[in-house]
Parts: sequence; structure tokens; C-alpha cells
Amino acid sequence: MTKEGQINLVLLGPPGAGKGTLAGFMVKAYRFLHISTGDMLREAVKKGSELGKEIQRYMNSGELVPDKIVTRTVIDRMSKPDAAYGVILDGYPRTRTQAGSLDELLNSGNRSLDAVLYFKTSEEVAVKRLSGRLVCPRCGRNYHVTNIPPKKEGICDTCAVGLIQRADDRPETVRNRFSVYEQRTKDLIAYYEEKGLLREFSGDRTAEQLFEDIDSFLRSEGLIDDDPYEG
Ligand code: AP5
Repeated sequence: MTKEGQINLVLLGPPGAGKGTLAGFMVKAYRFLHISTGDMLREAVKKGSELGKEIQRYMNSGELVPDKIVTRTVIDRMSKPDAAYGVILDGYPRTRTQAGSLDELLNSGNRSLDAVLYFKTSEEVAVKRLSGRLVCPRCGRNYHVTNIPPKKEGICDTCAVGLIQRADDRPETVRNRFSVYEQRTKDLIAYYEEKGLLREFSGDRTAEQLFEDIDSFLRSEGLIDDDPYEG
């Protein structure tokens, strides 16, 4: 359980820093609600609507989807009852405008951000991770061919379906995603540092080590008070 039953966290870091993977650990351990804008946008693309096609063009080139579209998606998701107890925001905000929109959204619901977990990761490590990433098309679980392999090669441990590579993990798109991160998202580190919310973790550590670091931090801040992995 969490402090007063509510916690609002942002996960920040470059592509491949491990945001989605660590969010998965936290969901399992603490039952937090994981809101990933990347996953929500991929769902919108799957629907094949005109909006989905527009979103796909941005994502496949590694560009950011316009702020208005993404913020509308987050507002809709945050207004659902299961978000009332707090959330882990993965991949949002990604621009200074989105950070302002998030502040407004939280303030309007008398909520506040508890912490921004920043996974500082070198580009070299992140590129290696993305080039080996495999994803389950059914449940969205992330694997890596060598770092975090499935039990059976190419097959999801949970759903038993074949794993796929994400369209935006092609090398040329990965390079653009990094350059977009440098230009548009990196400023948020200073923004949240000034607000006293930023907590830096070395994204180059293993996922298990990183989760231990996060767990210690959340406990030291009084944001978590039960044992992890309790049912
Ligand atoms: P999104 O899906 O959010 O992608 P991203 O931020 O580029 O992040 P990734 O999912 O690539 O990496 P991650 O940090 O989650 O790493 P992961 O855990 O998977 O966004 C995709 C696109 O959507 C954007 O480019 C943009 O177009 C659009 N979009 C999304 N949000 C938006 C927004 N707010 N505004 C505008 N546009 C938006 O791990 C990567 C790999 O490494 C995996 O294989 C994993 O198994 C492995 N791994 C993870 N951690 C470790 C570790 N510690 N050690 C070893 N291996 C590890």
C-alpha cells in the first residue's frame, strides 16, 4: 500500500532507459496504475482510424505526437476511476508544454506529483537495449534477446504468442528518437530539479538492481509502506 492510498510518479529518461520495464516491476509490487502514453498511442494506431494513421506517421519517424493529442489521451485516462488512487506516468510529460498541462491536471484534482524518477542512461547502452527489444503483441510485455530473454525463444512467457520488434526500433528511427529526446525532453530534468521532485537513478544498472534502488527510495520517502511482492 502507499501513503494515504495515493501516489503520483513520473518516469523520465531517454528511449531504452527501462521506463516501461521498471513500471512493470512497480505494478507487480505495488499494484500502481501504469499509464504509458507510448502504449496508449500504439493502441490508437491499431484501431486504424484517421487519427490513428496520423499518430502512426509521427511514431514511425520517431517524432513526438503533437502535445494536444497526447494530453487529451492522458486527461481521458486520468479521469477514469482506477486512476483516482494514483498513477505511474511513463513517457508523459515529454515537453515543457505537457509538463504545464500535467501540473494543471493534477492541481484541478487536488493532486500533486510525489516524485520524478529519472533514469540516466548512456545512448550506447540504450541503443543496445532497443536493438534487442522484443515485445508481446498481446500483453505488451517487454523482453530483450540477451538481457531479459523469454523462457522459450521468441515466445511470450505470459501469453505464449510470438514476440515482435517494434516498428520504431529500426536503427534510423532510434537515432531520431534520441535527437528528439535531446531537443524536446531533456529540459524537463532541470524543470523537475528546480521543483525539488527529481530523483536520479543509474539506468545502466540491471533492472533488478534498479528496482531495489527505487524501492528503497520510495520507502525512505514514506511513499510505500508494505513489503514488495506481497499479494
Ligand atoms: P514510448 O513507447 O514511450 O517509447 P520511449 O520513451 O522511446 O521509450 P521506450 O519504450 O523505447 O523505452 P523504455 O525506457 O520504456 O525502455 P524499456 O523498458 O522498453 O514512445 C514511443 C513513441 O510514442 C515516441 O517516439 C512518440 O512518437 C510517441 N509518444 C509517446 N509519448 C509521447 C508524448 N508524451 N508526447 C509525444 N509523443 C509521445 O526497455 C528497453 C529494452 O531494454 C527492453 O528490451 C528491456 O527488456 C531492456 N531493459 C530494460 N531495462 C533494462 C536494464 N536495466 N538492463 C538491461 N536491459 C534492460
